[in-house]
Amino acid sequence: MTAASRSPSGASTSEASQRSRLVLGNWKMHGNLAENAALLEALRTGAAQPLTAEIGVCVPFPYLAQAQSALQGSPISWGAQDLSTQEKGAYTGEVAGAMLADFGCRWVLVGHSERRSLHGETDALVADKAKAALAAGLTPVVCVGETLDEREAGSTLAVIERQLGPVLALGAPAVGRMVLAYEPVWAIGTGRTATPEQAQEVHAAIRQALRQLGAEQVQVLYGGSVKAASAASLFAMPDIDGGLVGGASLVAEEFLRIAAA
Ligand code: 13P
Repeated sequence: MTAASRSPSGASTSEASQRSRLVLGNWKMHGNLAENAALLEALRTGAAQPLTAEIGVCVPFPYLAQAQSALQGSPISWGAQDLSTQEKGAYTGEVAGAMLADFGCRWVLVGHSERRSLHGETDALVADKAKAALAAGLTPVVCVGETLDEREAGSTLAVIERQLGPVLALGAPAVGRMVLAYEPVWAIGTGRTATPEQAQEVHAAIRQALRQLGAEQVQVLYGGSVKAASAASLFAMPDIDGGLVGGASLVAEEFLRIAAA
């Protein structure tokens, strides 16, 4: 332990202060050209004020060009919600990392719980996607989180460890270029946010795993029913570096208030 003081979580205050704040919106399968235009314009206008957190939006594939043209030259970055593990080829319906990079994407979500549960994405596949994202020059935002049954069975930390295993096995140089997001499945779209203490417990465990790997500077976001009203207390936790916001990212004013929290 260095001279830097440690919080009860084990996080050093100097370590935490070196990590910048990041708030990403996940639009999921919402939007249309007209609604997006209004939302992107409102975000761009709102971001003309100095922001305390970096902000970005992860939009459906067909709207990447729209996000790019609306946000270019603004402080707001954009990205996608999934990518293929493959570089190119006969993979009907898939989208390669290089294609996302072509549209100026900075971020790509990988392993969102909806991809894991609805599309059978495994921990190993998620790690392969994270690797493919890095190879394309994108920052993967690797999502992990337990279900309610898993939490009630007391296996939350074991589930997170299992999900992160293949990702951490990519090594510190790779993991150091990622963002991680803890999204308890029971808090997603349910209006039931994890308490700051519940979230911090998991974030502290993730931070400890990152520290052991030598990648403690990686930003770890919290996601799951984040609203402007709950954001400040979550983001005040020592190991929570920002948010991954679903529903509330579709309302410009609410999303900007979260980013200001
Ligand atoms: P909600 O904020 O709508 O709960 O969604 C969270 C999420 O899944 C972000 O990726």
